[in-house]
Amino acid sequence: MSSLREVTATRYVTPFREGGSMPGLVEADDLGMYVVKFRGAGQGVKVLVAEIVVGELARRLGFRIPEIVLVHLDPELARAEPDQEVQELLRASGGLNLGLDYLPGSFDFNPVVRDPGAEFATRLLWFDALVLNVDRSWRNPNMLLWHREPWLIDHGAALYFHYSWSEGPRPTPKWKMTDYRYDSSDHAMLPNAGALSEVDAELAAKVTPELLDEVLALVPDEWLEGDPAELRRRYQDFFTYRLTNRGWVDSLEAARAARV
Ligand SMILES: Nc1ncnc2c1ncn2[C@@H]1O[C@H](COP(=O)(O)OP(=O)(O)OP(=O)(O)O)[C@@H](O)[C@H]1O
Ligand SMILES: [Mg+2]
Repeated sequence: MSSLREVTATRYVTPFREGGSMPGLVEADDLGMYVVKFRGAGQGVKVLVAEIVVGELARRLGFRIPEIVLVHLDPELARAEPDQEVQELLRASGGLNLGLDYLPGSFDFNPVVRDPGAEFATRLLWFDALVLNVDRSWRNPNMLLWHREPWLIDHGAALYFHYSWSEGPRPTPKWKMTDYRYDSSDHAMLPNAGALSEVDAELAAKVTPELLDEVLALVPDEWLEGDPAELRRRYQDFFTYRLTNRGWVDSLEAARAARV
């Protein structure tokens, strides 16, 4: 079974001011530089869970994603930090945090300026609807251009249903599953995508329970607050339901076709 690489933070370099979750550039003991999403940031660890599940699933479906690592952080790192806001963030983030390999020289990918191609656009639109990623609008596509290719970042807002899970140990009964609304009208890929029927069957077949198990196993147990095995099962249930009830693909196709 694969696992995420683990590194230890040695230096806080600089904040990414534009990021709502206060991500920071951090150097680690392997001398690598990582964009770190801190466990102590306001939104809590569910953001980090979504980054792993969605990012690693995307990678396995062929998208480019910076390597995701687990970053051990000693809150004492805060001592060297003059900025009080950053100090507080580091103090609240002792333990495991999430890091994305920093892509040096990358810049924000703008699909209006550079067409990523219909095939890529169609796949990404389908994928974001599957995982309920509401954070890929044309205003903020959360894609980086690096070595002439689009790389996907920032999946913390996907899988938003986990915020409404009750803490109880009972699995979500199948009959309680909902068709989650997904508003694609602002999606960055809507104008570029082709017919979703071109990718739907292939991508849906690739997201097997085994693949999901593999991806869910990458999430540290301590981020699955409650019973980790039970929570992994709930994520599985969501995907099973969403893949067997694909009315959302028809809605997505209607939105896309209306736009073209
Ligand atoms: N792996 C990376 N390599 C280089 N730059 C990155 C990387 N990941 C993120 N960035 C930069 O940091 C910014 C913030 O990252 P990200 O979007 O993941 O954080 P966020 O707090 O969720 O942001 P927001 O809520 O504003 O979208 C990105 O817009 C990008 O410019
Ligand atoms: Mg972002």
